[in-house]
This record gives sequence, C-alpha cells and structure tokens, in this order.
Amino acid sequence: MTLLDRLQCPACGASLRAAGSTALHCVRCQATIPVQDGIVTLVQARPGTHAAPEIHDVDQAIDPDRVEQQYRDIRDAAGARWPDALGTTLEVGCGTGLLSRSLLGHGDVGGVVVTDPSLKMLAACRGALQGAGLVGHVPLMFATLSGPEAGFREGGFDTCAGTSALRHIHDVPNFLQHVFRLLRPGGRAFFLEPNARYHRAIMQALADIVAQLIMRDPTPSPGRHKLLDLLARARRTSMHQGDLTALARLDDRHVFVAEQIEQSGREVGFAVAEALPIGRFGSGAAMAAALCEQMDLGAPLRDQVVGMMPAYASRYLPLLADRDLSPSLLLWFEKSIGPRPARFSPPAPDRDAEAAPPGTAAAAAGGVSRHALRLRADPDGEGTVVRLSGWCIANAEVSRVRVRIGAAAGTASPWLPRPDAHAAVNANGVVSNWTSLCCGIEETLHFPDVSPDPEGLPLIVELVMAAGPVIRLPAPSRLVPGEEITLKA
Ligand SMILES: C[S@@+](CC[C@H](N)C(=O)[O-])C[C@H]1O[C@@H](n2cnc3c(N)ncnc32)[C@H](O)[C@@H]1O
Ligand SMILES: [Zn+2]
Repeated sequence: MTLLDRLQCPACGASLRAAGSTALHCVRCQATIPVQDGIVTLVQARPGTHAAPEIHDVDQAIDPDRVEQQYRDIRDAAGARWPDALGTTLEVGCGTGLLSRSLLGHGDVGGVVVTDPSLKMLAACRGALQGAGLVGHVPLMFATLSGPEAGFREGGFDTCAGTSALRHIHDVPNFLQHVFRLLRPGGRAFFLEPNARYHRAIMQALADIVAQLIMRDPTPSPGRHKLLDLLARARRTSMHQGDLTALARLDDRHVFVAEQIEQSGREVGFAVAEALPIGRFGSGAAMAAALCEQMDLGAPLRDQVVGMMPAYASRYLPLLADRDLSPSLLLWFEKSIGPRPARFSPPAPDRDAEAAPPGTAAAAAGGVSRHALRLRADPDGEGTVVRLSGWCIANAEVSRVRVRIGAAAGTASPWLPRPDAHAAVNANGVVSNWTSLCCGIEETLHFPDVSPDPEGLPLIVELVMAAGPVIRLPAPSRLVPGEEITLKA
C-alpha cells in the first residue's frame, strides 16, 4: 500500500489518483485536490500559527542535540510501550520538523505523512529534512491538516504522533476520536504536550516572585511588563480550558491535566490512555530559565527570577503527584485489536444553572469577591453592546463574569494584568498572587437581539466560579444606555 492509498477524497471517500505533479483527482466524484509545490493541500492551508518558520528553530532552540534529546526523552518515557517499529505514521503539527527529523533519522518508520496547517511550516520542515539527508529513504508525503478533517483512510496508519501540536487543535476529544479511526487495530498515538498542573505551579510561583519584586520596587519596568504579560497569557489559557468558544480565539490553546486527557482517550475507545511524565524539571529553575529565554528577559532580572524560583516553587511543587513534577506529559494511546468496549459517562453538571443571590449558601461556599467593574450599554445597529471593564478577585477561582440582559447573556474572563488591583487588595497575600496580578477585564459584549431601551435594560451580573457555583453580584436592576455604572466591593 502506498502513502497515496492512505488518502481518500475528502468529499466522497473514494480513492485519489495523481494527475501530474499539481493535483490529485478523485476516481469517483472528480474532486480535485491541489498539490502546491509538492504539498498536498487536503485542507485549505491556514496560517495555523503565529510563529514564522524561518525563526521557529531559533525561537524554539531547535538544534541537532535538542532533536536527539527530545526523542530519547519520548522513548524513555514510553519505556516498554515503544514498539519495534512505528510503521506507517501520520505526524500532526510538524512545524519545522523537531519530531519528523527523529522519526526519519532513527529508521523507526515505514513511511510518514507529515502534516501541518501551514504551507510555510511544511516547506520549512521539508527543507530541514532534506538538509539532514533524511529524504528519499522511506515513502514521505507532505500535506496540510489542522485537525479532524476528512482526507485519510480509516485504519490507514500504524502510528499517529505529534509534539506541541495537540495544544493548538481546537477540539481535542473530537480530534482523538478521529485519530482512533485512522489507526489500525493495535496501532498507537503519542503526543508530547504541556502538563497543566506543573505549569500552574510554576506560574503561581512566578506570580509570587513578581509580587515580591513589586513590593521591593513598585516602579514598572519593561522586563516586569514581560513577566506580567506571560502570567496573564498563561492565566487566560488556564481559565479558558474547556471553553471551546473562548479557546478558538487563541493560538496556543490547551494545557493538559493527566487524568482528564486519559479519560478523553478512554471515552473515544482507546484501550490504553496514559499521561506519562517526561523530562523532569525538579526545582523549577530550569523551567524559569527556559521561560526567561523565550521572553528575552535581560540578564539581571532573569538571574533574579531563576535564582528565586526554587524557593518559591517549593511552595507548590511538593503538592503535586510524582508524575506531575514534569513540565510535559507524553500522552500515549493504544487501540486494541479486539472490539471497542462500551463506556458509560455520567452527564456533565449544568454549569449554567440559575445564580444564587448574594449572601446565600453559594457565597458562603467560597465566593467572597472584591471587584471594581464598570458597565456601559450603547446602541449597536438594532442591538446593544455592553462594555465591561475593571477587575475582579475572589477567594476561589472566578472563571467568568456573566452579564445578563433579560434572557441574553455575555461573559468575560478576568485575566489581564492588574498590578494596581493586586497592590490595592492583596498586599498581604490573602488570595493567590497569580489571581490578583492577572484579574483584569476589558471586553465588549455583543447583544444583537437586545434593542437599547432608553428606559433601561434588565440587568443581572454574576460570577461563574471555576468550581461550579454562580454568584450574583449586587447591581442596579436596570442598565440605562449611555450611562456608565460601577459595581464595587
Ligand atoms: C509549537 S509548533 C510545534 C512544531 C513541532 N512539532 C515541534 O515540536 O517543534 C506547533 C505547530 O502546530 C501547528 N498547528 C497549529 N494549529 C494546528 C492544528 N489545528 N492542527 C495541527 N497543527 C497545528 C502550527 O502550524 C505549528 O507548526
Ligand atoms: Zn470524491
């Protein structure tokens, strides 16, 4: 079976045949799949990444040693699970080929379809493989792919693999289901991805370090701005986990909680679904050094942060289970040879349940908040926009502030840097510094079906807590278009 036989017409599922060097043709429905500069454009190529391929290797510090080290780490983490041969392999999110170089360089694969949504990345990857003399030994094909699009034959692959790729894919459980179908029985998939718990622990420690530095010297500096920006972006990703609409706006979308991704793997039918620790960074100092490097932080601040990290990280890392003491997880899935087991999943709790009014059991259960939120409604065509800004901190994690206008609702997550709010209400560290340093909101909420009644719009403002409860904030019952209100506690 050639690699072309592993492809199928995305429109009708029939076989594809090469028509010269610039297209593939469906043998049944005559659909044409363009081949651009040797790359099969199964899905319309999208930029897919903000990173430019020409600087990706430098940015990600990819060199031959790193290529080797990463592959060694993957194989060590997989241990006895690693098969004698990976067979025909589908690689997702190849980038400039950090993994592709190893897959081809070690002779582990019988053939590879290398994919990425970005044509530029695919071309850069091909260039890197050519430069390393890795082209021409086993069948190799380059194709655009950005998730679960049709284009590959069910059961056509022995292995599916990717590094730092799953984190970009929009709906991961849906993608895993797709991967399950593409693998032959007995096949496997592995992905190297960030460990949510380790990253959160490091961000908590980094926020404590920044809070300490602000206390020593409150003058803002470009370096500190970079640190706050990193904390805010990490907080946004962390608090948007599970919210596909919010995640759709990000490039780097997911961090992975070991048990959750294992459950997703089992739910789609994998007989084995394991999140394995890989490449431990014990004290957090190496991770801090890597982050500072990426941010291009100047030497004095970098040395300060890296030097302080072990002491601050020791507040959080000892709370983690052994396998979570690793910045990345190797996600390992195996498809059994037998029939797929039936599984029962309990229904998800209703996260949009009615809010408890202030002062009730829900508030007592952990939702005491400090906030300063400004709201202003204005006409927007036939509808209304509400500008929501300010900050919000609670003694439990707030995942969203929800503004209800009658039956319509809009939400915003508090994650923007607000060192001023931190200084105002968290000087003695009652809540996590990561929360208080990154608790800002600046969002325009659109209500296309709400006409801007000059008498005022029926208003309810709520905090949706990460743990589930919804808490109603004291607020005027009507929001008059054109008039700004402030909610403060
Ligand atoms: C951080 S890079 C990793 C590249 C390479 N695997 C490595 O480890 O260096 C992420 C890659 O995923 C690609 N990507 C972005 N969105 C994707 C998606 N939805 N599906 C697959 N890959 C995606 C990007 O184009 C980029 O090349
Ligand atoms: Zn067709």
